[in-house]
Amino acid sequence: MIIHSSEFEISAVRPSQWPEGGLPEFAFIGRSNVGKSTLLNRLLNRKNLARVSAQPGKTRQINFYVINDRFRFVDLPGYGYASVSKRERSQFASMIDKYLLEREPLCRIVQLVDIRHEPSKDDVAVHQGLCELDVPLLVVATKMDKIGKSQVASHVKKIRQTLQSGVEIYPVSAEKRVGLDELWTLFEADMAP
Ligand code: GTP
Ligand code: MG
Repeated sequence: MIIHSSEFEISAVRPSQWPEGGLPEFAFIGRSNVGKSTLLNRLLNRKNLARVSAQPGKTRQINFYVINDRFRFVDLPGYGYASVSKRERSQFASMIDKYLLEREPLCRIVQLVDIRHEPSKDDVAVHQGLCELDVPLLVVATKMDKIGKSQVASHVKKIRQTLQSGVEIYPVSAEKRVGLDELWTLFEADMAP
């Protein structure tokens, strides 16, 4: 994919702020700090379009980005961050649910998990919910650079077993830019007429 343009559009806290539909949307969801914003930046070859922080829980709204005036990336707030208040957490959750259930142009959900660890209870619960939606789903196992090459297959297998689903799992390293072409190939297929 050749990126001619990538722009931040809006940080939405309520549906009335979602951009006018029409362009296909790819939504990134995952535990706080798993690397959603980093992946988005690397896919777009941008250093800091989506804000990345070592401090979890930074992305608190639904952030929309428009790419090549042709499609959108949507960075969803991270779940499972303990020091966010309960009330705030349930606000995130209902905002995310609303988006996932109601957003008509949503064409692909990308759930990120950390390749180093067995998926958390939250990861599994979110995954099961996503499997019930009528939207194509993909799991990206990220931070692959943090484990040895010889460990990748066994970690992917463990993730598959824990998630208990047949969804495809793509190992990537956003940091080292590994596995991104495969993602683009899939996204392009999603947008093919
Ligand atoms: P929230 O916005 O809090 O939900 O987090 P996020 O999922 O957007 O995570 P973010 O992209 O901010 O990354 C969190 C941390 O993980 C940062 O310190 C990143 O540099 C690091 N990180 C992300 N992807 C990778 C990767 O592929 N490899 C390595 N080694 N580090 C990564
Ligand atoms: Mg983020």
